[in-house]
Formats: sequence, structure tokens, C-alpha cells
Amino acid sequence: MKNVVKPGNGKKFTIISFIFIAFLFIFGSINQIRFDHLSNISRCAISSSFSNNTSLSMKSSDDEIRILLGILTLPDQYQRRHFLRLVYGTQSVVRAKVDVKFVFCNLTKEDQKVLVALEIMQYNDIIILNCQENMNKGKTYTYFSSLPDMLIDDSEAANGGGRQQYPPYHYVMKGDDDAYFRLNELAASLMPLPREDLYYGYVIPCPSMDPFMHYMSGMGYLISWDIVEWLKDSEIPKKHLEGPEDKVFGDWIREGRRGKNRHNAKWSMYNYPEPPTRCTHELWPDTVAVHLLKTQEKWIRTLQYFNVTQNMKPSKLYHIP
Ligand SMILES: *[C@@H]1O[C@H](CO)[C@@H](O)[C@H](O)[C@H]1NC(C)=O
Ligand SMILES: *[C@@H]1O[C@H](CO)[C@@H](O)[C@H](O)[C@H]1NC(C)=O
Ligand SMILES: *[C@@H]1O[C@H](CO)[C@@H](O)[C@H](O)[C@H]1NC(C)=O
Ligand SMILES: *[C@@H]1O[C@H](CO)[C@@H](O)[C@H](O)[C@H]1NC(C)=O
Ligand SMILES: *[C@@H]1O[C@H](CO)[C@@H](O)[C@H](O)[C@H]1NC(C)=O
Repeated sequence: MKNVVKPGNGKKFTIISFIFIAFLFIFGSINQIRFDHLSNISRCAISSSFSNNTSLSMKSSDDEIRILLGILTLPDQYQRRHFLRLVYGTQSVVRAKVDVKFVFCNLTKEDQKVLVALEIMQYNDIIILNCQENMNKGKTYTYFSSLPDMLIDDSEAANGGGRQQYPPYHYVMKGDDDAYFRLNELAASLMPLPREDLYYGYVIPCPSMDPFMHYMSGMGYLISWDIVEWLKDSEIPKKHLEGPEDKVFGDWIREGRRGKNRHNAKWSMYNYPEPPTRCTHELWPDTVAVHLLKTQEKWIRTLQYFNVTQNMKPSKLYHIP
């Protein structure tokens, strides 16, 4: 059985499971086991073959990278979230799991309590941190340092009795809501990189190509899970929370001697070409992220360039020239 059950072999696995259940049924009836006993036994058998580190779970956790992209935004940005859901919901990612979530601090208005709750019910893609909205007062720190407690739950009930994967994500990214991420390209760029002690992004200052130079730009940077846990536990960030978030972040990493592994994603990450600066680049195929999409026009030109609508199904119901 071990050799047969592989990810991507869903059909085969289903068939084997059915044969297995059928076998249990026959076994049960021979031994005159009551039906309700039987259903409990078969459920156990199936769930344990899923949840233990036997072939199936081992395989999938081995070759599938899990990434959390947290987009820091504000509760009132309903339109922006709606738009970004369109942009990310239509991307398909192979051999990786990328969860895009919107991150903000405590709600403050009555209407938010209804509207954001409805969004959560519909999309379940929102993280509300225990903080007051702020710039340069530690929202980024609160984001990263809250994740271990939010995502690692020891109780069996929290995950349907199945075993949780650890780490919950190999990598955690912080992204801007005016940046466009190409999730598949992001995941592909991470495949060859270490899963530990990694600090990945667009290194500042713009002309520099040395990832150890300073810090990674706030457009989007990514760290491995061990650094997330370190941020939570270390005293270094707690002593020094205020200041330009992404620069301060780089200071913690340096002071804590983290990020031995670094990846400078320049020029697969860059600012939108107009207006040209030392931080911009032309749109080109080798792109993970485009930043400073401050207008609808810039978004549209970017989405057009990357042919995002080319897989739309043809139908008699609509026509788009
Ligand atoms: C089957 O499991 C349920 C809970 O999952 C339990 O309430 C029930 O008593 C069990 N039945 C038998 C016959 O063990
Ligand atoms: C699977 O793991 C559970 C605990 O996570 C354990 O109780 C059970 O015996 C294991 N089953 C096998 C087949 O190793
Ligand atoms: C789970 O993995 C550990 C180490 O990877 C191994 O020692 C153990 O036998 C495995 N358990 C099962 C049920 O495969
Ligand atoms: C955020 O909200 C929670 C629960 O609603 C509250 O306990 C907490 O004190 C609030 N935090 C801040 C920083 O306002
Ligand atoms: C978009 O599609 C056009 C026409 O099929 C093609 O020439 C171009 O290379 C594609 N662009 C990208 C970024 O894949």
C-alpha cells in the first residue's frame, strides 16, 4: 500500500480506500460487529492513514512549499480587498500552497463589525491582529510575532483530529496592497532556496545587488518560519519597535544575526516603470512582484502584460473583444 499511495494519484487512492472499507465491512459482518462500531473503526482507519506520517502525508509535505502571503491593509479597504481577491483568486499555483490573507488591526467602527465579519464568512482570508492601526509603531512585528500562536494549535479538535503540519508555513511574507505578486513565480523562486534562516526580498538601496547590504523593501519580503518564531521569542525587536517598519525589521535581523541565507529578488521584484527611478524596471516575463501600482491604469497595464485573462473559458454567454 505504501508504494501505491502517492499524491496526484487521488483516484487510485480512493479506489484503494474503498476496497479497504469494503474489506472492513466484510470483516465486520463475519464477526457480527454492530454497524455503528464498524463505521467508527473504518473512520479511524482512514483518518490514521491520512494523518500519520506514512507515505501520503510525508510525500505531500516534502515537495510542496507552504507560503503565507499576508497583505497589510486597513479594515475600510473593502474595494481593494475585493480587487486583490480577483487578482489572486484567478492565479493557479503548482507544487506549492500559497495562502493570501489580509492583515489589519482591531476593528474600530460598527459597520466594520458587520462587513468584515461577512467577508470572513465568505472568504476566510482575514487576520485581525491585536493592535491599533499604526504606521511605524510595530504592526509588522505584531503580524509576524502573532502567527505562531494563531497557527499552531495543540488541540486535536482544532484540526479535525488530523495531525497538523509543521511548520504551518515554510515561509511567511509581508506584502503591500499596491504590489502585484505572481504567486507561481514566487513559489518557483523559492524551490531552490533554503527553508531555514532565509530573508528574501528586494534589497535597499535600489542600485544594490548585495542582499546583505541593508534591508528588504517593504513592497514584499519573506522569511522562513524559524525567523518568525525567533521574532516572537526574541527580546531584540521588543526593545526597538518604533521606526520605519521595514528598515527596523532589517535592524532586528542584523542584530539577532539572523538571515544567514538571503536572496535578493531584484530584478524579479521592482517598482512599476513609470515614473522611472533607480528602483523601477520595465515589465518583463521574469517577474515575481511589481510595486507602486497606485492607479487603476497601472494595475490594468500590468495585468494585461501578464496575460491574466488568457485562460478565460469561451462561452456563448459573453463576448469580450
Ligand atoms: C462512535 O463514535 C462516536 C463519536 O465519534 C461515539 O459517540 C459513539 O459512541 C461511537 N459508537 C460506538 C459504537 O463506539
Ligand atoms: C497514528 O498517530 C496516532 C497519534 O497521532 C497514533 O495514536 C496511532 O497509533 C498512529 N497510527 C499508526 C498506524 O501509526
Ligand atoms: C514517523 O516518522 C518518524 C521519523 O520521521 C519515524 O520514526 C516513525 O516511524 C514514523 N511513523 C510512522 C507511523 O510512519
Ligand atoms: C483589540 O481587541 C481585543 C478584543 O476585541 C481587545 O481585547 C484588545 O485589547 C484590543 N487591542 C487593542 C490594542 O486595542
Ligand atoms: C502574453 O501573450 C503574448 C501573446 O500570446 C505573448 O507574446 C507574451 O509573451 C505573453 N506575455 C507573457 C509575460 O507571458
